[in-house]
Amino acid sequence: MIDLRGKKAVVFGGGTGLLGQALVRTLIEAGVETTGYSSADLDILDLRKVEEVLAQDTPDYIFNAVAYTQVDLAEEEEEQAFTLNATLPPLLAAHAARLGVPFIHYSTDFVFKGASNIPYQENEKPNASSVYGVSKAAGEKGLQEFGYAKTLIIRISWLFGPDKTNFVDKILTLAKEREKLTVVSDQTGSPSYAPDIAKNTLELLRRERYGIYHLSNSGSASWFDLADAAVKIAELQCDVIPISTNEYPTKAVRPAYSVLDLSAFREATGITPRHWLDALREYVNGRPD
Ligand SMILES: NC(=O)c1ccc[n+]([C@@H]2O[C@H](COP(=O)([O-])OP(=O)(O)OC[C@H]3O[C@@H](n4cnc5c(N)ncnc54)[C@H](OP(=O)(O)O)[C@@H]3O)[C@@H](O)[C@H]2O)c1
Repeated sequence: MIDLRGKKAVVFGGGTGLLGQALVRTLIEAGVETTGYSSADLDILDLRKVEEVLAQDTPDYIFNAVAYTQVDLAEEEEEQAFTLNATLPPLLAAHAARLGVPFIHYSTDFVFKGASNIPYQENEKPNASSVYGVSKAAGEKGLQEFGYAKTLIIRISWLFGPDKTNFVDKILTLAKEREKLTVVSDQTGSPSYAPDIAKNTLELLRRERYGIYHLSNSGSASWFDLADAAVKIAELQCDVIPISTNEYPTKAVRPAYSVLDLSAFREATGITPRHWLDALREYVNGRPD
């Protein structure tokens, strides 16, 4: 196993991103000298600047936590979504290849249509319904076609965590103001706690695993399950009521069932990620009031 202490990392999206900030914190805790960049520090599309930053930081690992993540807006801003999610990843991987260091990229359960009710394995063919999902799948394909051997693509799903607003955070804010909330109960996925994704990413790196891995917390949930559990843990007086997707139409079509199969991660590391409810308790109880 690789000892990460004393190594250096660059995290694009590490200045302001939900996952990026968790990666920066976790890497620093693991003894990795880490620099996180936001768009205010560096426009990632300025590849000359990217080269300068990499020459200055001399990283042993390059993480891409930059993405166009506004799923509904992507239906209107297709070009912006494709630039960040599809065009950019192989260009960053080319920088990693030039330096000979691992490139870690994140993708999503939304690359899948979600029409069955069997957890998705890594080798299943992406068939997204939304512009966001199609653009993220194109990013994966671009990386695979580029073919840099030290590329690790991690598909995650339903991200929540500290540092940036997210679904759970929004639910808890609304639950303080309202007596009841309606939440979709016919979409099922795998909640992912950003600090757990970051820690488990390092487990793959320590074992020099590359290719595609699925990663989330264990267990599955509907958005209703996740919201209801968060409100109960926070002991808020708000009724959470299940509704169907038809009652809450959105611009982008989301998968009905996009639970990720974690067997490959478990086999690679011997680690079973903790259940999403345990992670949710840590997050909700640790949130400032
Ligand atoms: N959120 C989820 O539920 C979820 C689910 C599955 C997969 N994922 C994937 O997980 C990864 C991380 O997602 P996230 O939710 O943490 O993303 P996020 O919070 O939306 O962060 C995206 C980051 O990209 C940066 N960025 C955007 N345009 C940039 C530019 N031109 N130059 C430099 N930086 C730029 C943003 O910086 P600024 O804020 O400074 O603009 C921000 O730090 C993504 O690959 C996403 O597709 C997310």
